[in-house]
Order: sequence, then C-alpha cells, then structure tokens
Amino acid sequence: MSEVPFKNPGWAGNTGEFDLDEDQVRGDDFVGTRPREGGHPSGAATYPYMLPEKHPDAPLFEGEHKERFDKILTRYPNKQAALLPTLGLAQEVRGHVSPETMDRVAELLELSPAYVRGVTTFYTMYNKRPVGRYLVQVCTNISCNLCGADDVMEAFLRYTDTEIGETSEDGEFTVVEAECLAACGFPTCVQINSRYYENVTPADVPKIIERLKAEGAGGD
Ligand code: FES
Repeated sequence: MSEVPFKNPGWAGNTGEFDLDEDQVRGDDFVGTRPREGGHPSGAATYPYMLPEKHPDAPLFEGEHKERFDKILTRYPNKQAALLPTLGLAQEVRGHVSPETMDRVAELLELSPAYVRGVTTFYTMYNKRPVGRYLVQVCTNISCNLCGADDVMEAFLRYTDTEIGETSEDGEFTVVEAECLAACGFPTCVQINSRYYENVTPADVPKIIERLKAEGAGGD
C-alpha cells in the first residue's frame, strides 16, 4: 500500500494517476454497487443520482424504479415528504427534470404542479434541461477557488469545447460550476456524475476527459 504513488491517501481521486481503483478504496459499500431496485428501503433513495445512460421519455416509474419509488414512500409520513427523493429518482431515470416530469411527479405524489415546480426550481441539483452523458460539476467555492478552481473550470471547458452549461456536440459532456461539494480539504473538487475527483489540477483534466471517453466507448 505504501508503494502506491497517489496524491491523497484518503480518497480515490480517480484521475488516472493512481493504481487503486474506486472499489479498492471505497469498498463494496460504494453506492454504485447497490441493486437498481434500491435494496433495503433505507438505501432506496440513495442510489447514484446521475447515471451516464439517460432515458428522457422513460415512464415514471416502472419495474425496478417502481420498486424504488414504493420503497421511498415507505420512508416518509406522507407523500409530500417524499418529494425530494422522488425528483432525484426521476432525474436518475430521465437525466433531467423537465416541466412534464414535474407534472408527472406531482400526479404521483398528489401534489399541485405549482408546488412541485417551486421545489424543483429552488434546487440547482435538479437539472432543468438535458445534460450530457457526463455532468461535470466543478466546485468554484472558496477553498477550491483559492487553490485554482477557475483554472480547472477553464480547462474542462477548453477540453470539452463548451461554454458553461452547454452540452458538447457529441453529447458527452456538460460542464457547470458547483457550490461547495463538501470536499474542501482536497481542492479542487470535481463531481462527474456521481463520482468525486479530488485534488484536480488543470493538468489532470485531459486525462480525466480521455478516461471518461474510454469508459463511454466501453458502454459504461
Ligand atoms: S470549497 Fe470546494 S469542496 Fe468545499
């Protein structure tokens, strides 16, 4: 273990320089290994909320996702209280939360469409528009900013050939700014879909992009 050259021994900043993969560092408890139907009801809402595969027209909810939805409902005293995880699940399935999705969620939870819209538009974590296969969220808050987050942001935009919030022509990448991602000890932190990359520098960015492209080509 001590022979492995990595920048941060506490975390799999998976930038391509480490010999450890995500499973080795996080273990089997990593949320990505949970069953699609959510497993135990307590974990049903916390399966990765941003997956590469997005199905904007998929029904809400069917099959394993219906199981998840039903489990989510068991965790709350009423349907209104289940709104945030239900929106999260809808985003996981469809990739973003369109006005039609908001209306469908309102129907499912017996809430008014206006209420659901008010909640959804309050939170930046719900994508109101379609995003690329990989949603790249660069933290530009204070700790990361002091350590060069603006340069990291600039590098992601350059290597994906996009403007902030725009999706690359090949549909692979959308790069946005994020507020503190709660990894302030390891700036700059970047969240790509459900995975964290820490201690990211502009020099790491091409490797990260290439790795993601390779994953995408492999059907990950
Ligand atoms: S300031 Fe970037 S993770 Fe907190």
